[in-house]
Amino acid sequence: MLLQEHVSLKNHNTFGINARARYYVRIDSLRSFRDCLAHPSYRALPRLILGGGSNLLLLNDFKGIVMHMAIDGIAVIGEAQDHVWVQAGAGVNWHQLVLYCIANGYAGIENLSLIPGTVGAAPIQNIGAYGVALSDVFVALEALELCTGAVHTFEKAACAFGYRDSIFKNVLKGQYAILNVTLRLQKTPAFQTSYGAIQSTLKAMNVQALSIRAISDAVIHIRQSKLPDPARVGNAGSFFKNPVLAQARFGQLRARYPHMPGYEQPGGLVKVPAAWLIEQCGWKGKTRGRIGVHERQALVLVNYGGGTGRALYQLAQDIQQSVQERFGIAIWPEVNVVI
Ligand code: FAD
Ligand code: EPU
Repeated sequence: MLLQEHVSLKNHNTFGINARARYYVRIDSLRSFRDCLAHPSYRALPRLILGGGSNLLLLNDFKGIVMHMAIDGIAVIGEAQDHVWVQAGAGVNWHQLVLYCIANGYAGIENLSLIPGTVGAAPIQNIGAYGVALSDVFVALEALELCTGAVHTFEKAACAFGYRDSIFKNVLKGQYAILNVTLRLQKTPAFQTSYGAIQSTLKAMNVQALSIRAISDAVIHIRQSKLPDPARVGNAGSFFKNPVLAQARFGQLRARYPHMPGYEQPGGLVKVPAAWLIEQCGWKGKTRGRIGVHERQALVLVNYGGGTGRALYQLAQDIQQSVQERFGIAIWPEVNVVI
């Protein structure tokens, strides 16, 4: 276990915030994890489990110990006529897992291509994109309880998955470190191409025969055209979740704002794009010193370099307030704010 002190986290969060960790350790096995938790010098410190840092906003230097998940490995742990069960370590890069599955002909996560971050963080907010969510293929995960060092298995029902939500983001927040995740994937794909731009992109790419690789390529193409690359400009993807309203409330708003988009959800609910609400409030493309709102996607806050977590948080609060005042709709961060 190599523990470092006063480590800059600038290259460990996609906003590129230059906060420092009092202690930093790379965790590459269950054993090193347990050694670190049991160590008398670090036992009482606050802990932050860090994956790829692509859904984090650091407001301050972190006074405790940052535990960077680097547990590796991808393996097929079961097989049936139509399905395979793939297990991956928490530190595996999510997109590398997607590429592994595509190379082996395992279908189910190709629509989730190019989402930044690690496998271990994927269940935290039940990552989703282009009509697919992690929960569609999720079987179970193993997680270490930080206060006891015990390893527990969580099957799908126990994770309480929702839209950008799971039990690990609310009731059990900060209590478990996910060690590995098991997915059930199809050997014969059921393609999911219903979401917006996928069909038109496949057509523009002149795809003759549908395949999981073609869908992945189309999703990558759409994402690269819409979302800023964190390697060029600091961001954490969508800063806010899209608000979900009761049908009746949406109807009232639509009467007043006839152009307000809304996507019907099960249970008489409607999801309204927060990007539209933010754009209507005039924020799209606005800059404030070294930070701002992206010019192509109003849901993405950006750090042009040198911005602070506090400035971004203030901007986020100002956006929330103006959406509330204009439309009476509360929008909430998707990004995990670390105080
Ligand atoms: P981190 O940012 O490191 O951590 C996120 C949270 O999970 C933190 O609270 C952290 O403490 C906790 N955590 C991390 N690893 C573990 C673990 N092993 N055990 C317990 N807790 C842990 N998300 C989507 O859902 N869909 C998208 O389409 C999407 N697009 C994005 C595009 C861009 C350009 C960016 C920058 C982000 C995007 N995101 C998207 C958000 C992000 O990629 C996901 O939330 C991703 O799962 C975060 O992974 P990470 O490893 O970077 O997590
Ligand atoms: N829109 C605007 N202005 C903008 C951008 C979008 O008005 O600047 C409106 C348009 O009406 C558009 C609609 O918003 O049709 C939806 O936009 P988009 O398809 O880009 O999706 P999104 O709701 O902004 C969500 C996820 C993304 C995910 C995409 C594709 C959330 C919070 N975000 O974005 O996830 O990749 O759909 O499925 O649900 C993330 O979570 O970090 C993330 C990037």
